[in-house]
Amino acid sequence: TKRIALITSGGDAPGMNAAIRAVTLQAEKFQYQVLGFVGGYNGLIENNFIELNRHRVDDIVRKGGTILKSARCKAMLSDVGPNSVVETLKVNKIDALIVIGGDGSFKGCQAISKLWQGNIIGIPGTIDNDINGTDQTIGFWTAVETALDSIDKIRDTANAFERIFIVEVMGRNCGFLAVESAIASGAEHIVCKEVIEDEVQFIDNLLVNINTAIKNHRTDSYIIVMAENSLNFSADALSKKIERYTGVDSKAAILGYIQRGGSPVASDRVLATQLGVAAVDAVRNNKSDIMVGMLNNRATETALCATSYNNTYNQEIIRRLNQLNFNLD
Ligand code: F6P
Repeated sequence: TKRIALITSGGDAPGMNAAIRAVTLQAEKFQYQVLGFVGGYNGLIENNFIELNRHRVDDIVRKGGTILKSARCKAMLSDVGPNSVVETLKVNKIDALIVIGGDGSFKGCQAISKLWQGNIIGIPGTIDNDINGTDQTIGFWTAVETALDSIDKIRDTANAFERIFIVEVMGRNCGFLAVESAIASGAEHIVCKEVIEDEVQFIDNLLVNINTAIKNHRTDSYIIVMAENSLNFSADALSKKIERYTGVDSKAAILGYIQRGGSPVASDRVLATQLGVAAVDAVRNNKSDIMVGMLNNRATETALCATSYNNTYNQEIIRRLNQLNFNLD
């Protein structure tokens, strides 16, 4: 039998519970024990865990958040954190560590890997979708749905008042959430790092485009979906700039943390279940320092060090946007 330590780490994402459930049930199949450490790496530092079994994970597949709680753990950035984690792993005779989280959480895995011989497996869980080695991360599609629902509602007011809206979505430094929710909502424009070569030029073009669209009455309202952190100024400052230039009422709406919560959509539950199973299978096969992901509908393994996402000129994002450029301006 093997003993698995499991944590959820970094920003919580809908579907993390489904992944916890899948890891637990797949582990039980092979009589492996799963210790769920509470509060991400903090639980591992403080040796704070609960034993997971089929009863503990009953009915969590549909719940948002994470029953294991999460954190961004500063101690993992120095030697102190990883050393304490390894001590806990040894005390509890752990064979494998499974981390459900994003890029930052995987950096923690790499630090532990230098000090510990056990198997380390990552499962990509973040609403940002900013991880290489998987087509989607757990939580992404639920966050898109949540953003979409809000943008649709904002469209009602935008139409009624013939206003311009800037809707800021999350994504950290990545535009996937913005792109998919913009496409799905029929937004008129998108702002994200991946498509900005020169910020001044980009904003100048945006202002001209909005003006033309409004002058030609191509649309009653104009919605710009903007990824957080994509400009050197805020969504509010952008709305003021646009208002000054066009003379049309412009408002900014920042969606914020609602995008992280809620019951996961079907595709996130299915993805989380597949990846939970794949992670335990990786443990069975004695794999280490890998992340399990889904590429073209197949479970795949990627070296943990290769999971970092680069937001400059992301060809996939540019391709998706070009395909759907309906030339409103
Ligand atoms: O990584 C998920 C995310 O929600 C990002 O989209 C956002 O930038 C960040 O986390 C917010 O982090 P925190 O919860 O630490 O404020």
